[in-house]
Amino acid sequence: KTIRREDYRQPDWIVPDVALDFDLGAERTVVRARLEVRRQAPAPLVLDGDGLVPVAVRVDGQATEAWRLDGGALVLDLPGDAHVVETEVALSPQTNTQLMGLYASGGLLCTQCEAEGFRRITFFPDRPDVLSRYRVRLVADKARYPVLLSNGDLVGSGDLDDGRHFAEWHDPFPKPSYLFAAVAGDLAERRDSFTTASGRTVQLGIWTRAEDRPRTAHAMESLKLSMAWDERVYGREYDLGIFNIVAVNDFNFGAMENKGLNIFNTRYILADPDEATDSDYDGIAAVVAHEYFHNWSGNRVTCRDWFQLSLKEGFTVFRDQGFSADLGSPAVRRIEDVRALRATQFPEDAGPLAHPVRPESYMEISNFYTATIYNKGAELIRMIHTLVGPGRFRQGSDLYFERHDGEAATCEDFVVAMEVGAQVDLTAFRRWYGQAGTPRVEARIARVEDGTVSLALRQSTPPTPGQPDKSPVPIPLRTALFDRASGARLAEQLVLLEDAEATVALGRAPGDVALSINRGFSAPIVLVADRATDELAFLAAHDDDPFARYEAVQGLMLEALVDRVASGDAGGAADAAVDAVGAMLADPALDDAFVAEAALLPSESFIGDQMLVVEPLAIHDAREWLRARIGRAHLAAWRERQERGANQPFAYTPEAKGRRRLRGVALAYLLAARDTDAAARALDQFQRADNMTDRFSALSALVGSDAAERETALDAFRVRHGGSPLVLDKWFGVQAGSSRSDTLETVVRLSRDPDFTLANPNRARALIGGFGANQLALHDDGGAGYRFLADQILQLDRLNPQTAARLVPPLGRWRRFGEARAAAMRAQLERMLRTPGLSRDLYEQVFRSID
Ligand code: ARG
Ligand code: ZN
Repeated sequence: KTIRREDYRQPDWIVPDVALDFDLGAERTVVRARLEVRRQAPAPLVLDGDGLVPVAVRVDGQATEAWRLDGGALVLDLPGDAHVVETEVALSPQTNTQLMGLYASGGLLCTQCEAEGFRRITFFPDRPDVLSRYRVRLVADKARYPVLLSNGDLVGSGDLDDGRHFAEWHDPFPKPSYLFAAVAGDLAERRDSFTTASGRTVQLGIWTRAEDRPRTAHAMESLKLSMAWDERVYGREYDLGIFNIVAVNDFNFGAMENKGLNIFNTRYILADPDEATDSDYDGIAAVVAHEYFHNWSGNRVTCRDWFQLSLKEGFTVFRDQGFSADLGSPAVRRIEDVRALRATQFPEDAGPLAHPVRPESYMEISNFYTATIYNKGAELIRMIHTLVGPGRFRQGSDLYFERHDGEAATCEDFVVAMEVGAQVDLTAFRRWYGQAGTPRVEARIARVEDGTVSLALRQSTPPTPGQPDKSPVPIPLRTALFDRASGARLAEQLVLLEDAEATVALGRAPGDVALSINRGFSAPIVLVADRATDELAFLAAHDDDPFARYEAVQGLMLEALVDRVASGDAGGAADAAVDAVGAMLADPALDDAFVAEAALLPSESFIGDQMLVVEPLAIHDAREWLRARIGRAHLAAWRERQERGANQPFAYTPEAKGRRRLRGVALAYLLAARDTDAAARALDQFQRADNMTDRFSALSALVGSDAAERETALDAFRVRHGGSPLVLDKWFGVQAGSSRSDTLETVVRLSRDPDFTLANPNRARALIGGFGANQLALHDDGGAGYRFLADQILQLDRLNPQTAARLVPPLGRWRRFGEARAAAMRAQLERMLRTPGLSRDLYEQVFRSID
């Protein structure tokens, strides 16, 4: 069954107040709900339910049998306009492997309700435009579940008979059911506090298993920084007296912004230098901020329906990206964000699962928590920000929050608030929300007699499923010209390309110029600029926009790689790429983190995206060839960078982080260059490291090699970290990503390892997701990789449909490959589709991938 955006109707009944009573147990939990319902339209009361059986139903205090079940929902024909409806159901958290609704994780009981998990807990109008005030009473065995948490403020607690106890929570802010949360367990708290701008004190708590408590300091620090940042940059204060975070082992996503009670995947909370890499630390800061920022962009202003998901997710990603940029290096952060966009969103937009930032239809909403909704959505907000500037943007966001506080809003509401508050006409810009596909922009410099330089631009967006014809969209392009002789920047301007084609005057330039365009990645497009190798080489050396400089280096690498794959030759681009990396290594003005980013080769999958027919083996060989060349050309510099600061004790400073990042890149280049002592050097780094970043970069560099040091390091890593689930995930993941020819066999063997389980999403993603992302191993000739991936997806689907469905996209790219591979990939999709009992989640993803 397909849900369509155009079918939206206001709710027939609303529920201003709800009281929930949980009698908690892992084997059996009884939920009693008391709903005060109010009629809005002449229709029966339909309370969504998923797998629930009513034990008792009462209307206005009277037991009734006058109800029916319709597709899981409880339907009541009620006479008047206001009633009290009470229901009772029994749940089995222990056997809830979907991890939606109320489930057990470790010894804990916890909930996940977004998007439609609340209907697995109790009968309710489970849609985001029904906002209710919640009172929650939790009752549980005190020894097993000493801590009982829910949304809002704690208003009562105490002991009961039989060793049980209770807690009562009240959330004064009306909220949709997807923001409900409850947790019970034996949890330890890191407690802190934050004083808001207006002087209120908020009690902060991060709750974990007792042994993990020492690993929560970074998350707490990140939370306090996020709270201060949202006050400073957006004028948003926290609104309750308590803010709690709970970390759980088994979680389908990164984290969840439940009002006053965020629930997190442990991987985005727990960190210490011995177990977490610098990028894990960055991920924690970003996700803690993201969930906290949702308190305004998501909770105070929520979504009218799930087609508006990007209203909260795109905006909140934009906000967390701004926070992370302010925390570290904005340039490096931008490079990382664009790399992630190109790795996940661009392929999505170019494949069978392409959809607009505001979709028109879905079968299963869980499948729409995508890179398009999140990351492309954030890029749309960023373009508005670029168009109006920070000051006017803030006036627009202030107006948005003011107008829609306490409401369930739409993307259109956001755009209108921006138009009014930031004084900008976004009529044409709205197309970005409705149109899928990545626009392609061709740019060419033309010279006029008197020295005037003009820029010829042309845009087009390729067809996507259901959208054969595309309109032009407004594309803001930060553009500059450089004088080739002096290296000076001549002019910078924001060019707005609104039509299919345009010619723009860029100013007068006496001599040769170089074109720097889409600086800072001002628009999420594919740029096809007509630039000679020497022009890119010039920009790689001189561009003063760090992102554009990075792009120039990447452009040289891509040109060399594409040529190499196509003709076995790499022309002058390879030499220019080698020289550009050398020049950056020699430039003391550049910081290490930037050099590390710019020296990284484009990923195999991104190289494939540039080609008509993807040839995974040829791509891999070309990439290894270029890697070896860059490695060999700068051996001394790589050795020096690998050693620099290696003996200093761990410090978590931007400089030390940058050094570690470049150390890892240097080590990989030394191995690629087959430097005589490279494997020994890697093992030495591995053994002497006092932190996970250096240890893991050494392991990653070794894992693709045949050296004996590889086994030594893998074994030692497992022995040392086998007791820590998050680190063991890394051990599984790094092997799944290996470029060795025996990777499929290794992954099959690991899938039978006693420590492997599909039941834990982190573990499943590490091994199976890691394998799916490994271009070389997945597409190995013969198709055994496709079959293995499909087998694992089918198995996982029986436990956890949401997580299973997210593993489908690598197979859905079949059209991009040669005939034999395409047929073999498609055959696995068809086999999955024929499998009886497929979940709706998996069915939709597979069906759309074939069609
Ligand atoms: N709102 C959460 C976040 O981005 C993600 C929840 C996704 N859950 C789901 N079942 N689709 O912060
Ligand atoms: Zn979010």
